[in-house]
Amino acid sequence: MSDTVSRTPIRRRTPGVGAMNFLSKYKHIFGLLVLFGLIFRFWNIAILDVFKKYSLSPKQVQPCLKSTVSPNCTLERCNISSNGLSHLKPKQSFCRDLGQEPSPEEALEERNLLKSISWPEPPQRSTPTPLEETSDAAHSQFVVMPAEGDRERHVGDQLEARVVLKDFKGRLKSYGGDFLVARLQSPELGAGVAGQVVDHNNGTYSAVFPLLWEGPVRVEVTLIHPSEAIAVLRRLREEHPDRVLYKSEFRSGSVSETTMCNMCLPTNQKPVCNYTDILTGEPWYCYKPSQGLSCDKRRNHFRAGYQNNLITDKEALLFQRTNLKVRMYANGSDTVKVLYKKKDKPGENSTIETGTPLMTTPSGYYFKWSWRMLSGVVIQEYNDPASINQCLKGKVVNIYGDSTVRQYYEFLTSFLPELKEFNLRSPAQAGPFMAVDMGQNIMLNYRSHGPPISYLPLSVTQLRYVANELEGLVGGSNTVVIISIWAHFTTFPVEVYIRRLRHIRRAVVRLLERAPETMIVLRSANLRGQSLQESLIVSDWFAVQLDGVLRSMFKGVNILLLDAWEMTLAHHLPHNIHPSVPIIKNMINTILSHVCPKKK
Ligand SMILES: *[C@@H]1O[C@H](CO)[C@@H](O)[C@H](O)[C@H]1NC(C)=O
Ligand SMILES: *[C@@H]1O[C@H](CO)[C@@H](O)[C@H](O)[C@H]1NC(C)=O
Ligand SMILES: *[C@@H]1O[C@H](CO)[C@@H](O)[C@H](O)[C@H]1NC(C)=O
Ligand SMILES: *[C@@H]1O[C@H](CO)[C@@H](O)[C@H](O)[C@H]1NC(C)=O
Ligand SMILES: *[C@@H]1O[C@H](CO)[C@@H](O)[C@H](O)[C@H]1NC(C)=O
Ligand SMILES: *[C@@H]1O[C@H](CO)[C@@H](O)[C@H](O)[C@H]1NC(C)=O
Repeated sequence: MSDTVSRTPIRRRTPGVGAMNFLSKYKHIFGLLVLFGLIFRFWNIAILDVFKKYSLSPKQVQPCLKSTVSPNCTLERCNISSNGLSHLKPKQSFCRDLGQEPSPEEALEERNLLKSISWPEPPQRSTPTPLEETSDAAHSQFVVMPAEGDRERHVGDQLEARVVLKDFKGRLKSYGGDFLVARLQSPELGAGVAGQVVDHNNGTYSAVFPLLWEGPVRVEVTLIHPSEAIAVLRRLREEHPDRVLYKSEFRSGSVSETTMCNMCLPTNQKPVCNYTDILTGEPWYCYKPSQGLSCDKRRNHFRAGYQNNLITDKEALLFQRTNLKVRMYANGSDTVKVLYKKKDKPGENSTIETGTPLMTTPSGYYFKWSWRMLSGVVIQEYNDPASINQCLKGKVVNIYGDSTVRQYYEFLTSFLPELKEFNLRSPAQAGPFMAVDMGQNIMLNYRSHGPPISYLPLSVTQLRYVANELEGLVGGSNTVVIISIWAHFTTFPVEVYIRRLRHIRRAVVRLLERAPETMIVLRSANLRGQSLQESLIVSDWFAVQLDGVLRSMFKGVNILLLDAWEMTLAHHLPHNIHPSVPIIKNMINTILSHVCPKKK
């Protein structure tokens, strides 16, 4: 195994992380069964076999769940005959116990954050919901309001679409919690804007859009997951926080051993090595090697696959083509004509009755497929290397995080001929990478964030937490910092992410205190393409939950929040973990327009 993985190419340019594109390589390398005493016999770790079809023999069914609190399966959970849909509340994750106790203020903030992203849950039932009674996009519809009569609509007004969800039998749903996204598109104008979705908790939803340009606009509504699938994802997040497998190799002389590692490692099973970060307190553990190798002999860190067979075959039916990212039809016309802006008259707003807002109001929109911000900051076009050089001259750009910001490094090094990469012989995905333009005195650095970074092997010396890196910066008007941290956190309970952001926020605030002119950009999560099985690991629902936390936690901090969520939702290009170049270009334009604002 370690042979296979350590033969990673030195140079980059293999297409990035994602979480998923490695899959074909390691398919069927091994499946192994770890037996943890009597109880843990179902912990089936068939590595990297995510694409395997869910075929469960009746006896395999719900894997019994490991938990440090009660390693004993409850009767309900272990009921082998109840091979049905998830209908029980998830157990609290064992992962929570493994970090530092938050202070009372931190605990209060955490509770408020969790409340702010609370997602309506389907009613608790004594029996699982039959598939025919779950939300079905094909039977569901939306109506552009008002349903009857013509009404003139002008720039500055709001537009509402009322979405009615039905099940596979065509009956109205009576509860909310479905994950919908909505947008307006005007393809001939190159215009698009994200909508705000409000859940009325009775099977109906409102999608509300600002009308920002003249001309025909088309309403598009997509069901990302039915509420019953969200219940499955919620359970996975709590009960299987360790469903991405991480390992480390320990080595001393000719002796080597590879063990399982995680932030969420059941610590009552075997002796562990504790790699909790001294400065931040971020937890990380590996099982201790058995061959007498000590904990300081850990050499590398890598992702080693996924836990498998986490859901029943009936639950898997909730993640099919018919109910994962499906467009809905309009009842009536989906297109309205927007007229000129009326002078001296405020726009007409739709009045939405009470409900749970599932998305914030938009911060920007596309016109001629160029991003414009509603904050009023003018986004300039940087169409040639000279204009970018002019902005970045004399600056150091430090990029920290996952592959969604490594894309900026890749874009700039390929776009700017004088920005030369220094070959650090770093591993393909993780970096670090460095590029320099000596003439213009521009330096560009990329470094990945710390565990749970889900890459192929990297040296433990390169496992560094963003917060600690920020503490090492002098900062100032010549420093640009770009951070993205979300894609590798989708499998963990939200508390894990809150803790990480708390540490980063503290370091950001300190950096801004000592060098207020430092430009700090925080990139939000984005929508991504995903297969049915991938969504158990990387669903947009996990991402939107993390994104809500990120937005709240950095409110009032003097940073630029780069709204990758809206920039991918409002654009016509397909969802991709690594958004395509036209979107990246808009993101670079947005960043540079803030680094070098136009003088009035
Ligand atoms: C499960 O829990 C019950 C009651 O708490 C206990 O009597 C039993 O020994 C436990 N079984 C195992 C295998 O730990
Ligand atoms: C197991 O499930 C079946 C059918 O869902 C149910 O009739 C039975 O009572 C359950 N048994 C236990 C021990 O919960
Ligand atoms: C659902 O709730 C909304 C808002 O309260 C209300 O306007 C609508 O009539 C309700 N729909 C149904 C089917 O009950
Ligand atoms: C790991 O170390 C940290 C700090 O050194 C400590 O707070 C934590 O309790 C340790 N974890 C375990 C499971 O012993
Ligand atoms: C379409 O909308 C109209 C008006 O709201 C409604 O009367 C009709 O039942 C809807 N049709 C379907 C198939 O839902
Ligand atoms: C509509 O909403 C916008 C933004 O929330 C507000 O500025 C405007 O005054 C509202 N218009 C009316 C007529 O209430």
